[in-house]
Amino acid sequence: MKLGQKIKKVLNPLSYRRGWRRTRRLLWPLPLGPLLANLDQDRLREIQARYATSTNHYVKYTEVDRFWRENRKRIQDLGLHRCTGKRVLDLGCGGGFFLYLLTQLGHEVVGLDIDEFPLFGDLINLFGVPCVVWAIEAFKALPDLGARFDYITAFATRFNRSAERDWYWGPSEWNFFLNDLEQYLAPGSQVFFSLNRRRREGDYYTPELREFFLSRGATVERDRVFFSNGLRPWTSHSTVARPPSKK
Ligand SMILES: C[S@@+](CC[C@H](N)C(=O)[O-])C[C@H]1O[C@@H](n2cnc3c(N)ncnc32)[C@H](O)[C@@H]1O
Repeated sequence: MKLGQKIKKVLNPLSYRRGWRRTRRLLWPLPLGPLLANLDQDRLREIQARYATSTNHYVKYTEVDRFWRENRKRIQDLGLHRCTGKRVLDLGCGGGFFLYLLTQLGHEVVGLDIDEFPLFGDLINLFGVPCVVWAIEAFKALPDLGARFDYITAFATRFNRSAERDWYWGPSEWNFFLNDLEQYLAPGSQVFFSLNRRRREGDYYTPELREFFLSRGATVERDRVFFSNGLRPWTSHSTVARPPSKK
């Protein structure tokens, strides 16, 4: 890399934030061994063997070591290993790796996911993580999820995409969704989404959607959309289509 590029990289706030996250993980490590000590490894191996020949793209979740490490990072970045007793809702929780680690740290968790690929259900059962089976849809309220949460997360989201139409939620869909989520937010709660890349465009959101997240109080960094203190009301209505009215 040329010197100019190197300087540009060092001065980029993105590099700084990433570096700071890495440093914090080193300063407050989270060893996986004790967190996995209660897991039935024989049952886990049985599940892995059952899906060994599957061609479904979600079969990658049998490579559990990779996902333990990835979810450990998520926990460290949210600081959830430095507190206990928080209520956490994870939307599109998949196999429940993130939530299982949280239960071992003394948090109370609820997952939500569609019941599409049975590997996720098998892992959720093995981990003993409570999971609501539900398909999130644009302009459709969530089911009753009980008491409020201190953290609401969604990693590598898929619910914001219509596979048939290869279309992604815009500000109106997200606005409806966030307004609905608000009833489950405890005072001072945090909301974190990491978005999947849009397939055709290769980016995470349109400039308009980024503006929308910022206007509701998020910090936005590549795939990461983080509301560190609840949600702000949306005021910038002008250029965005409204949701269809219910007759
Ligand atoms: C890429 S996986 C990510 C799983 C997990 N969050 C992780 O990061 O390991 C996307 C997840 O979203 C779930 N999902 C897809 N569409 C959904 C919908 N409409 N409502 C709820 N969950 C959905 C999938 O079943 C899958 O578990």
